[in-house]
Amino acid sequence: MLTTYEIIRKKRDGGVLSENEIAEIVSGYTSGELPDYQMSAFLMSVFFKGMSDAEILALIHSMISSGVTVDLSDIPGSKADKHSTGGVGDKISLLLAPIAAACGIKVPMVSGRGLGHTGGTVDKLESIPGFRTALSTAEYKRILNDVGLVMSAQSDDIVPADRKMYALRDVTATIESIPLITSSIMSKKLAEGIDALVLDIKVGNGAFMKKVSDARLLARKMVKIGKLYGKKTAAYLTGMNQPLGHEVGNWNEVVESIDVLSGKSKVRDVTELTLKLTGEMLSLCTGESLSRSVSKAGKALASGAGYEKFLEMVRAQGGDVAFIQNPEKYPAARRVVDVSSLESGYVKAIDTRKIGMTAVRLGAGRMKAGEQIDPAAGIRVQMKIGDRVARGEVIAIARTNRDVVENEIIEEIRSAYVMSAKKTVQPPLIMERIAP
Ligand code: URA
Repeated sequence: MLTTYEIIRKKRDGGVLSENEIAEIVSGYTSGELPDYQMSAFLMSVFFKGMSDAEILALIHSMISSGVTVDLSDIPGSKADKHSTGGVGDKISLLLAPIAAACGIKVPMVSGRGLGHTGGTVDKLESIPGFRTALSTAEYKRILNDVGLVMSAQSDDIVPADRKMYALRDVTATIESIPLITSSIMSKKLAEGIDALVLDIKVGNGAFMKKVSDARLLARKMVKIGKLYGKKTAAYLTGMNQPLGHEVGNWNEVVESIDVLSGKSKVRDVTELTLKLTGEMLSLCTGESLSRSVSKAGKALASGAGYEKFLEMVRAQGGDVAFIQNPEKYPAARRVVDVSSLESGYVKAIDTRKIGMTAVRLGAGRMKAGEQIDPAAGIRVQMKIGDRVARGEVIAIARTNRDVVENEIIEEIRSAYVMSAKKTVQPPLIMERIAP
């Protein structure tokens, strides 16, 4: 058997690792025997040299084996989940899970925290006062059975290897790797005990995959692995060349989601993507056509059934629904900075990663592993691609409790916008569906 040093060296030099070598690294890191610096070197070697399909499968297998696989067979009904590769303003899970549950399927969702410039569903949910995402397996199953959905963080039991690797990748610039994203997402999803899975593969300047060809490769790998494990799986390539919806942060994203769920506002891209992905989940579970399933999801949104399910889930997980019903009761951020346009014209492009990074700087995400986030911090992206803007008009609003230099924040957000004198068009939202 090679030593850890030799395994890292072999991958660094482009070698193909055996199942045992991969298992040695993953189990050593999970147990704490293998230090962060060796795991960082291993991850960086994978980042540069990639992995064969057999290596990716071995990595997924070792990661799943680092914890338990939840057995949901005693809970009646089809169980399905959705996972996104990460974006800016991506609040779709907050809407999709309750709508899908309102349509009769069970949604056991295990989500992540913010990663790099992208937000995480767990951080967003934890901005709801009292909301608990750390659940024991027994509680997770009880809530799923009673409410029809549960939204939790990874526990110590489910894929603990990914929990550690995910946090390490976040601070070692090793996120944007097809084998590492595939193994991170698929290990979690395969350990959840689901029957069907929908993957939202983000593409664009705010995604980890910048090119459609890379996103397609990632989607195909994940769909193939899902099938291999007997899960009905479909993936969508969706646009991330601008934030989804208008709000980027945590509590502000929860409020935008509630507004759509309760019918208070219609945010076009958020609504369209939510209904498509929810419809796909339903269709995979029931066998009904995609168009009928999307329309069923639309009815559950319009009737308020999805909103009622959201409230039920918040209550079951200890959240204070008074804040959901009256969001104005939430403590507002101390500083509100308006960002106005220096020119008139049409928004042509938005540097979405920059918006995400600025939100992190305002306190909505983490610069260091384990850092506390400020739930009230974030950015309202008032103007989006295709919008007409007058000189001096507000294009974005930044909110924070931090003592930031206002002019720096204004400059940063302004420089994320590219304007054009000519009319511009919205970039595509739903680009491709990939299924076995
Ligand atoms: N989401 C995950 O769970 N893992 C990744 O690596 C990227 C996005």
